[in-house]
Amino acid sequence: MTTAWGELALTRFPEDPRDRLRAWDASDEYLLRHLADEGVALSGTVVVVGDRWGALVTALAAHRPVQITDSFLGQEATRVNLERAGVEPGSVQLLTTQDPPPDRVDVLLVRVPKSLALLEDQLGRLAPAVHRGTVVVGTGMVKEIHTSTLRLFERILGPTRTSLAEKKARLIFCTPEPSLVRPTNPWPYGYTLPDGIGAASGRAVVNHAGVFCADRLDIGTRFFLQHLPDSRGAQRIVDLGCGNGVVGTAMALANPEAEVLFVDESFPAVASAEETYKANGVQGHAEFRVGDGLSGVPADSVDLVLNNPPFHSHQATTDATARRMFTDARRTLRPGGELWVVGNRHLGYHVTLRKLFGNSQLVASDPKFVVLKAVKRSSD
Ligand SMILES: C[S@@+](CC[C@H](N)C(=O)[O-])C[C@H]1O[C@@H](n2cnc3c(N)ncnc32)[C@H](O)[C@@H]1O
Repeated sequence: MTTAWGELALTRFPEDPRDRLRAWDASDEYLLRHLADEGVALSGTVVVVGDRWGALVTALAAHRPVQITDSFLGQEATRVNLERAGVEPGSVQLLTTQDPPPDRVDVLLVRVPKSLALLEDQLGRLAPAVHRGTVVVGTGMVKEIHTSTLRLFERILGPTRTSLAEKKARLIFCTPEPSLVRPTNPWPYGYTLPDGIGAASGRAVVNHAGVFCADRLDIGTRFFLQHLPDSRGAQRIVDLGCGNGVVGTAMALANPEAEVLFVDESFPAVASAEETYKANGVQGHAEFRVGDGLSGVPADSVDLVLNNPPFHSHQATTDATARRMFTDARRTLRPGGELWVVGNRHLGYHVTLRKLFGNSQLVASDPKFVVLKAVKRSSD
């Protein structure tokens, strides 16, 4: 990426040489060009929210920015990109959306996130630190910036306008109005699960902003909850890509002797899973981990993996993550251990499972979804 601060070589995380998707887009370039061309003073505390793979903080590293991200993969990419650019460790502060934000923000740069809820929560958390002199500039692709996006800036921070579009990207200019009476931040959002979904029926669920299907039970998840396996005894179970943790919590409620590992690459997801688990007073062992799939989980150590894989990854429709999750599950399962997957029937997960495990069994199906089971036969 060519910027006024130099040429940068940027990658996504995990790096995949077959991945043709870039680690930045025209909206990152537009924002950086604007800051340089207009000579925007980048002094005081510079905060960057929603930087996808670290392009913005890597370009602006000399101004010692603070990055706030909801994504472990995004944060790892940032670390790699900063190191490759020779940025001194510690020059860029890496915070997550769950960390307390800085007390004072002098420049706020917002790469508009896919989730409006996440934007609402982030602006709400940062608003008390924004003052009349704070420079606020947002950026995003035209298709990502809606009237509702601008309205959020307006309701939470102050008067807002947009730039002309350039290369299908647009900037957002907001003038902070500290005397504004701000709406209360509705996040995290809790609700009670419906009946008819096994052990999770009528249970509480907690959703931090940005988590998958934060305001209602996803219909695929609902179908999965109706067909979860029987689990007995001290089994080690993984809720892989746990989101708000309803699947792992349902397993823990059904079998309190089980030890459940909740994993997700999203910081708000893991925070939600932990709160969902705790809100239900489950008596058992659980671990909550932010990470990429099952990396760090030893081979042959798990009895059961439950997975509702993502089919969008950072704006790209891909089954690459699902395939990596199934491969991880095969490695970490003990011989005889099982992977249970729910998915849209048209995604054809049974083909991938058969390739990886040598078997795939249909557990349940309806016109839209299938629940599949694959058994690890041996360790080789
Ligand atoms: C379809 S959602 C399922 C959430 C939850 N299990 C449910 O059924 O409601 C997929 C989840 O996978 C997570 N995810 C995506 N890529 C991941 C990765 N590389 N490692 C771990 N989790 C990932 C997403 O953040 C998301 O929470």
